[in-house]
Formats: sequence, C-alpha cells, structure tokens
Amino acid sequence: MSRKIHIFDTTLRDGEQSPGFSMSLGQKLRVARVLAEMQVDVIEAGFPAASPGDFDAVHAVASEIEGPVIAALCRTIPRDIERTVLALEPASKSRIHTFIATSPIHRREKLNMSRDQVLNNAVNGVKLAVAASDDVEFSAEDGIRTERQFLADILQAVIEAGATTVNIPDTVGYATPSEMYDLFRWLRKTVPGIDTVHISTHCHDDLGLAVANSLAAVEGGATQIECALNGIGERAGNCALEEVVMALRTRADYYDVVCGIDTRRLVAASHLLAAVTGNFVPRNKAIVGENAFAHEAGIHQHGMLASRDTYEIMQPQDVGLQDSQLILGKHSGRHAVVDRAREMGYKLEEGEIEAIMVRFKELADVKKRVFDSDLEAIITGSQTGSIGPWSLNWLSVVSRVNGESEPTASLTLAHVDGTTCTHTGDGDGPVEAMVHALEQVTETRIKVLSLAMRSISLGEDAQGEASMRATVDGVEFSGHGLSTDIVAACAEALLEIINRATRSAAQLKQSNAA
Ligand code: KIV
Ligand code: ZN
Repeated sequence: MSRKIHIFDTTLRDGEQSPGFSMSLGQKLRVARVLAEMQVDVIEAGFPAASPGDFDAVHAVASEIEGPVIAALCRTIPRDIERTVLALEPASKSRIHTFIATSPIHRREKLNMSRDQVLNNAVNGVKLAVAASDDVEFSAEDGIRTERQFLADILQAVIEAGATTVNIPDTVGYATPSEMYDLFRWLRKTVPGIDTVHISTHCHDDLGLAVANSLAAVEGGATQIECALNGIGERAGNCALEEVVMALRTRADYYDVVCGIDTRRLVAASHLLAAVTGNFVPRNKAIVGENAFAHEAGIHQHGMLASRDTYEIMQPQDVGLQDSQLILGKHSGRHAVVDRAREMGYKLEEGEIEAIMVRFKELADVKKRVFDSDLEAIITGSQTGSIGPWSLNWLSVVSRVNGESEPTASLTLAHVDGTTCTHTGDGDGPVEAMVHALEQVTETRIKVLSLAMRSISLGEDAQGEASMRATVDGVEFSGHGLSTDIVAACAEALLEIINRATRSAAQLKQSNAA
C-alpha cells in the first residue's frame, strides 16, 4: 500500500505573518473552513503568544473547525506554551508546535546559547507540551544549516521527551533537492526512534525550490509536508500546497504516496485567499493561475482537439475548474446559482445566499453574459466583504490627460445612523482624488499601499475587480471591490478598507473600556 503523506497547512501562521497577507479573524475563519473542506490533515492557525489577536484567531479556529488537527506555534518557553494550550483548548484534535533555532548562526547571533542550552530548552519545552497534549511537534528552526550530528542528537532527545512529529525546516530557503533527499535519508537511518514519529519538511522558497525540496524530502522519507495556499509565507513564501499536492497526485506513479486532499477545492481555495488578502494570483501560476489550463497557441489547440493528453497532464476538473465557462443569465434562479457554485467548489451557507443573489441579479441586469469567473468573484467578494457603517450613495469622478485642472472625485456616503455626507477631493489621479474626498467624509488619514485591477471575465461589459491595501490612521487593511465600472470597483475597495478600519477602532475602544 502507498505511504500516506500528511498535509500540514500553515497559510494562517507562516503565510499570514508575512507582510501584505494579514487577515482579520473572520477572514481566517473563512480560509480555515475551506482548508477543512479540502481535508488537509493539520491547520496551523497561528502563534497565540505573539499577540492577543493571534490568540483569539487560534481560539476561534479551534472552537469552530472540525476534521483537521488544529495546531499552534510557540517557542519552547513556558509562557508561550501555556498561552498555546489555552488557545487550543476548545479543539477536538489539537497539536502544540514548539520550536527553537538549532543552527550555529542562530545559536550565536540570535539566541546567544550553546548547543547544550539549545538542547535543554528543546527538551524542556517538549516535556511541558507533552504534559498538556499527546500531539506535540518539535521544529529545529534553520535545521538545514545545523550540524548534522547535532541535529540528529536534538531530534533523538525530543523524541525521547515525547514529541510525536519532528520537523526539519529549511528556514532560509537554502537547500537543494539532492541535499534534502540525502539529509532525510540520513536522519531516517541515524536517529533512534525516528520511525515511531512523523518526520516533516517545511521549505521556504527563497531560491524558488520550496516545492522541489519538499518533494525530495518525501523521497528521502518525510511523512508530512508543511505548505501554504498560493505558496504564501515569510519572504518569498513557503512550499505551495496546490503545487506539491498536484505533483504527488499527478506523479503517483513515481512517488508512490497518497495524500487525502480533495483537489477539486484547490482553485476555489486559492481564489478565496487571493481575494481575502488582496493579492491576485499570477496568470501563469502553476495549478491555479488563469493560464494553467489555457491553450492559446495554434499548434497546442490542434493537439488538444486531437487528444487532450498531448498537452494536458492534469484535468481542469481535478483542481476545480469547469470545462464550461458560460453560465447563467438574468432569469436564473437561486437553485441554479447555488448548484453552479457547488460545482465550482463553493458550499454556500444559507445566510449568505440572499446577498449573493442580489449581486447576481444586479450584475445580470447590466451584463449580457455571466461567466463562472463573474459568479466566483461575487461569491468571494461577499465572503470577504465587510459590512460597515458607511455605504456609497453617489460617485462622480473626472479624470484629465494634459488638462489644466486636476482630476476630481465627488462622492456621497451614507452612514448607518441615517446621515449622509458629500465631499469633493482632487489629486494626481482619480484614485487619489477619491482618497482625499473619503478622508474628508470619514475624518481619517488614508495612505494607499498597493492597488491591483483586473478584468474578471470576457466582453466589453466585463466586471472589473480592484484589490487594495491601505493604512487608515497608520493601521493596515485590505479591501476588495467589484463592478462593471473599474473606478467604482476602486471606490468599493476603498470603502471596504474604511469600514474595516471603523469597525476595528470601535472594537479596540470597547475592549479598552472593558
Ligand atoms: O521557517 C521556519 O523555520 C518556521 C518554523 C518556526 C517552523 O516557520
Ligand atoms: Zn517557516
């Protein structure tokens, strides 16, 4: 029987901690639900001792998500471990993931500890964790650059202390595939007791080798892969979940292993994460990029018509892409929309269908043809969107090329308290003009950090999607807007950012008062 490889997803921890990928608690829960539907084995939900927000997010995921093991990261110090135990308390299956750096450079420059001190800290941390949980993972941070024999000694010591998984991260993305293969084989042969625990790989992508290195570790004997959706993570990111999973599946003839992932959820999960974090997936990204299954070149199309196998090693349906792109129209009802969404990998909750139907009907009124990608954008938009105190009543934007006056934006916002407020702003471009008008209405300081726009589907009446990150009074938020008018989509994205900021300021005020 083929060996089982466990998929440990760290989108919500290693991924979320990297700049430009932060998520609110609600967004983390959304992503965790999709990961659970996809049947990952472990969801690393955060680092509870890092901040109260991280603690709350891990606690919320542990309270709601059933199926996967819920893991949380901590240093080997008692306070971290205690916070982690508390945060994971509601989970039906939980894992304490404790780590300390083991490489000479980290021992010397970061920890100022000798080998013995590092080893003692690791063993003490694992013992504390084992007292609270029967599922404990130990990571030797920067394990790849650690002296081999010391790495073997520390792994042996933590296994004797009760660790049930040992992880050897390539923290700085330095290894090559043949080194990984060799190291994992050597560890399997050398470390007493290693066959009784899971042996895990965690690769960073600094040299673009994270997926190749993870696969090489599997060949060398790893039984768990740590990875993240869309490959997000520190610096250049982690091993991309969708890539490594599809490599194992497509080349099962070569790797002879199985993992239990429902790969038909991959595209939906990737798109949800992109919308939530405001980072579009590149068109040519393997597995989940728009071009991954597109065959434009004439010679390719000819081959494809003769037989799909000429240029296609995976079926689009395997990753959740449907063959048919043209879908519903303005007479389509609730059942048709829900069914189509399900076929595309989205399980709509009862409470969200109404709002999705309203957007769908509005769109179907202005657009002749509604494509899968349009419906998907509405679903991810409504799943990531925030309900807030402000809504846009009216907007007029004037742009100029070689004109005398500056671009201007006039807008009217309505507040839930029933009042409305109108202002006009100007700026170097229409987006800056909108920002200045919004600053006056909401009495905030907004600084746009990034803005990406794209057309969602085909045709002159295609929907435009805007993804934005901005700070509001110094705090960073992301926003997402969707409209057949791209300027209005930018306004929606800005408004979502302002609503998130207003809600988060109100929550902070409430918790300070309590
Ligand atoms: O990259 C790394 O070393 C890590 C560990 C803390 C697991 O993320
Ligand atoms: Zn990492």
